[in-house]
Amino acid sequence: MRIEVVEGRRTRELRRAALRPNWPTGTPMHGDDNPDAVHLAAFDADGRVVGCCLVLPRPYPLRAERAHAWQLRGMATAAELRSQGIGAAVLAAAIAEIRQRAGELVWCDARTGAVPFYGQHGFVAEGEEFLHAESGIPHFRMWRALVG
Ligand SMILES: CC(C)(COP(=O)(O)OP(=O)(O)OC[C@H]1O[C@@H](n2cnc3c(N)ncnc32)[C@H](O)[C@@H]1OP(=O)(O)O)[C@@H](O)C(=O)NCCC(=O)NCCS
Repeated sequence: MRIEVVEGRRTRELRRAALRPNWPTGTPMHGDDNPDAVHLAAFDADGRVVGCCLVLPRPYPLRAERAHAWQLRGMATAAELRSQGIGAAVLAAAIAEIRQRAGELVWCDARTGAVPFYGQHGFVAEGEEFLHAESGIPHFRMWRALVG
């Protein structure tokens, strides 16, 4: 498996299928049009996109005083390939990209079911569980400091 920075259109369908399955194929997804977004894709041996996420510079709302914060969005692994470490590898690559850009904090709105996944990678939940405005799914806000 290789992981690369790609154009957002390369990962859009996986993000849609995994995160917004009720939306029609081809629906624009968050980050697609943001020139600051860094999209990552994991490819299998056949060149198929099997994992992805995007990161973009955006202040962490719960700690606005912390500079150089980046938001993680659109984490997705192809349904038939989950629990094999693809998500972990994509997340590690995303954090490396943030570090390269002098990012000091990464945060996300994590589906409650995915909180253990992010917790395994150093993220800490903060605040109360909330219903995501767009999806209606329960979430926790989570963050991880990348410097002291
Ligand atoms: C979250 C996601 C990207 C993880 O990808 P992955 O390739 O399976 O990740 P890994 O194999 O590195 O890690 C899997 C571990 O994450 C945790 N985990 C991930 N999703 C979970 C969930 N919905 N419920 C409980 N644990 C979950 C588990 O600990 C799991 O380990 P296990 O398989 O031994 O139980 C993948 O489950 C996915 O695409 N889910 C649908 C979209 C989604 O919910 N994205 C996150 C939105 S915040």
